[in-house]
Order: sequence, then structure tokens, then C-alpha cells
Amino acid sequence: MLRFDFCNMMSAIVKEKGFSPKELEESRERAERALDSLKRKSPGFTRLSRGQERVCAAINEKAARIRERFENFVVLGIGGSALGPIAVERALDTGQSGMRLFVEDNVDPERLSRVFGSLDLKKTMFNVITKSGKTSETMAQLMYVANALDKAGLPLAEHITATTDESGGDLIRIVQKEGLEYFIIPADVGGRFSELTPVGLLPAAVCGHDINAMLKGADYMDKLCTRGENNPAALYALLHVLGMERGINISVMLPYADSLKYMSDWYAQLWAESLGKRYDTDGKEVFAGQTPVKALGVTDQHSQIQLYTEGPYDKIVTFLKVDKFREDLTIPSAFKYIEDISFLGGKTFGQLLEAERKATEYALCKAKRPNLTISLSGVDEFSVGALLYFFEMATALAGEMLGINTYDQPGVEEGKLAAFALMGKAGFENKKAELDAAPQKDRSLIIE
Ligand code: PA5
Repeated sequence: MLRFDFCNMMSAIVKEKGFSPKELEESRERAERALDSLKRKSPGFTRLSRGQERVCAAINEKAARIRERFENFVVLGIGGSALGPIAVERALDTGQSGMRLFVEDNVDPERLSRVFGSLDLKKTMFNVITKSGKTSETMAQLMYVANALDKAGLPLAEHITATTDESGGDLIRIVQKEGLEYFIIPADVGGRFSELTPVGLLPAAVCGHDINAMLKGADYMDKLCTRGENNPAALYALLHVLGMERGINISVMLPYADSLKYMSDWYAQLWAESLGKRYDTDGKEVFAGQTPVKALGVTDQHSQIQLYTEGPYDKIVTFLKVDKFREDLTIPSAFKYIEDISFLGGKTFGQLLEAERKATEYALCKAKRPNLTISLSGVDEFSVGALLYFFEMATALAGEMLGINTYDQPGVEEGKLAAFALMGKAGFENKKAELDAAPQKDRSLIIE
């Protein structure tokens, strides 16, 4: 189903830039400790692959009702409440779902006015997703939508479904007051680990995907990623953490499939927000983390690969490879009088893509650049569920190895609080005063 090939991380291939079997053997205990610690903590996301039968049944029932009545499904959410639904839909969409999915994860006024202006509200269901229930961007979108529905004389309860944590936040209060249907994000599942909760499962089901198969894929991966031997997530985590300790501070995600392009965005948030931490759990300053970079094969061969093969030795490249595409096209033998391109005729685009990937892998190895390949037999609900879960486990295990808190995001808070103050939220007057007292920009350094 999913193959994890880390040959090109080893010194046998990338010489002194790789790891020796002895080094990995010496770190074995560290990986085991991380796994034990993760099992002891049992973070919420590790319990999502099983026991969600009733949630899935309720989601499927709701999705069927939505599909019967609506043409557009618009997710309002941001970060962990948006990147998963985007990644999954882009991976699984075959253009036949019969539902138009929009995921509005920004407050860019031009984009919003274009999208909201193009929707027939009568045929639109909105799914407002926010774990905290109070993220400004999402709440602002909801306020706009509620007003638009009101003006059109459409009941909110028929056009808005909420997905949120039940234990607090403003959204749950709106849900109760307006009588909205809602799904729960379990309290112990953080935003970026929530794709396999109703956050991701409802949009996927509405788009006609088999969410039970997604969870089966996650469950299959859970078995591989909790075992002591040949554990792919533990190895992915270990190789990256050892890399970080050698100054490899960039993780490049390079899918060779358009369908997996947005997996890189989802991974970028997961890896960056989970591992980028100033302090370890003992309060010691560690400045941990690794910068995720999103790329796409083959497109970025013509843009970034030059840097990856000849620039600084500061990256691990992860190839995502698909063994079998859902469709392929043969390149016809056109322009026979041009000898130079005749080798392409008769091959398929899938063959060309894979040859390009292999060639890039070879070029990276030749330039001693550590890289690894995760292969999916095909892109479907099962493999997507497995892939999501694999990266969640790898991230959680890397966090254990680094000794940091993987699940918080204190660095995001400062910006959130400053935004509240700038927008005049009550209770943030002191923060506003702090902002006003901060060093001001020197106008002579601004060229107009
Ligand atoms: O991973 C996280 O917790 C964050 O990135 C959140 O997903 C993001 O800030 C959105 O938060 P919320 O779902 O509470 O609106």
C-alpha cells in the first residue's frame, strides 16, 4: 500500500552526507523511547482510526442530505481547519463528485467577494470549522455569510453546519442560539491533527468519498507506526531529527503527482507548527524545528532543483510517488520529421513523469543530497488516510525525540493577540497600548 524507501539517506549512497547503519543502530533506543512516550501520552489523534463508526454514520447521513439539496459546499476555516480538507479533496477529486467544494481559508477581500458573489445561496451549504470556536478570520466569514443568508431570507439552520470543540468558544454558543447542526472536534485533538475528525470527514463525505476507507487506511498505518521494528514513522522522524542535529534545517516535500500537491501544504503546517519550538518540555531554550518547503514534481524541477542539487547541504527531500495513476495518456508520435523529440512518441505521460522523478532522485544522490521516497500504490481513500496518519505519527514521534511540546503553538498566539488589539477587541486595551509603545518604523528606511 505504502512503501517507505530510505536507501538514499544512507552513506552507502550519499557518502558522508548520509547516515551509517551504525549511527542508526546507536539511535535505536532513542526511537524506542519516543514511541513508548507517545504511547503513554496517547494523544487524541492516535485514537481516531478506530471507534468512529457512529460519527461516520452521522456524517454520511448528513452528507447524503447535503448532496440531495445543494450544489456548493463552502468550508469556512483556516490552518488545521482548512488544509486537510483541501489536501484530501485535491487528492481524491476525479471531477465526478457532483458537488462544488470551496475552502475559504483567507480573508482576502477580493477573493471573498468573488467567491461569495458567485454562489447561489439557495444551493449552498456552509460548513464553518473552528476548533477554538473563536478564530477572528473564520468568525468574520461566518458573520458575513449569516448576514447574506438573512438578507436572502434563508434560514441559517438550513445553510450552515458547524464543526467545533464543544467545550467552549463562541461558535458553540451561536450553534445553540441559532439551532445549527454541528459535529464535534474531540477536545484532545489539536487543529493540525484533526483531519480524521469531522473537520475532514464531513467535507470528504459530502464530496462523495468513502470516509470509512480513509479511516481503514489510517488504522493500517497505525499498526505499522506503533510497532517496535521497521516502523516507517519512527524512521522518518529519526532521520529528520538526526538531520536537524547536523544542521539540516529544511524538509522538502516533493510529490510527483498533482493530486498530492496540497498534501505538501498540509504537511508544511503539521511539521512547522508542531516542531518549531523555542523551549523544550523542561523549559530549556532549544529553538527546535525544520522549515518545510513545498514543491511539486516535475514542475519544480524547472525552478527549485538547481538549488537542491548544488546549493547548501541543508535539506532532506521527501519524494511522494504514485505507482499507478488513475488515468494515463499516450504521447503520440507527432512531428516525425523532428528526430530530437521522437523518443517521446509512444510513451505515456505517466512514464515520463516517473522517469523525471527517477532522474531527479539520481541527480540528488549524485550530488550527495539525502532523500527518501514514500510510494503509494495509487491515490484513493485508503492510501490518503494512511498517508495522513503516517505524517501525523512521524511528526508526533519527532516531537518526542526533540523533547518538545508538539501540540501547542505559543508562537502563533502573539500575532493573534496583536490582531485582536488592532481590531479593537474589548479586553485588549493593554495590548494595544503595548503595540503603540513599540519602536516605530524609521520613515527614512522606507522608499516610496
Ligand atoms: O493547528 C492549530 O491548532 C492551528 O493551526 C489551528 O488549526 C488554526 O489556528 C485555526 O484554529 P481554529 O480551528 O481554532 O479556528
